[in-house]
Amino acid sequence: MSARAGGRFIVLEGPEGAGKSTVAPRLAERIRAAGLPLVTVREPGGTPVAEAARRALLEDHPASGMAELFLFLAARADLVAAVIRPALAAGQVVLADRYELSTEAYQAVGRGLEPAFVQAANAAATGGLRADLTLILDLPDGVGRQRQLAGGKAGDRLDREAEEFHRRVAAFYRGVRGPGIVHLDGSRPVNEVAEAAWDAVEGVLKQH
Ligand SMILES: Nc1ncnc2c1ncn2[C@@H]1O[C@H](COP(=O)(O)OP(=O)(O)O)[C@@H](O)[C@H]1O
Ligand SMILES: [Mg+2]
Repeated sequence: MSARAGGRFIVLEGPEGAGKSTVAPRLAERIRAAGLPLVTVREPGGTPVAEAARRALLEDHPASGMAELFLFLAARADLVAAVIRPALAAGQVVLADRYELSTEAYQAVGRGLEPAFVQAANAAATGGLRADLTLILDLPDGVGRQRQLAGGKAGDRLDREAEEFHRRVAAFYRGVRGPGIVHLDGSRPVNEVAEAAWDAVEGVLKQH
């Protein structure tokens, strides 16, 4: 369920510190400057229920990988139903900071849940809604962590995982291939990454 009238669904992905939240507003500015109606979202969150799931995920409660999975998916299911699908149906562009690939990276590769199960659970949560374009910002190991420390970002429960966890997550992102997936080198200067991201987005916006 990728093709839809008017609307385009664009997702930013990649490991912690790759620059997703830095590139998102720059891309948003370019999309709006091109005269297109835009809705931006960041996961988990964006609806009352999804923000409640976000708080539960960010707080320091112990939770199994499976409990974590369903909190993320509850947030995603609500966001897709209440915000993303209506925006796409209205012909708007949706730009999301993380989507279902994050769940494959963190809960399957990171936490060790069965990948086929995670994919099926993702599809159930989204009703099969796929992104038209997924931009993956790739980073060499360790760079994201260094950036976060330098930027003074307070780590959430996933940020605080061991180096080895983050290495597996980053390696997964570097290796992902599939329809609509475009890899960008997140280690380049912000302006260059944002420019490369815009080139890819422009290509998708022109498609009918
Ligand atoms: N291309 C880049 N080069 C150098 N520093 C960057 C780059 N992109 C982002 N940063 C910095 O790295 C930190 C993490 O960026 P952020 O956008 O929050 O990453 P993410 O949202 O992917 O976790 C921030 O301090 C940001 O200013
Ligand atoms: Mg971010």
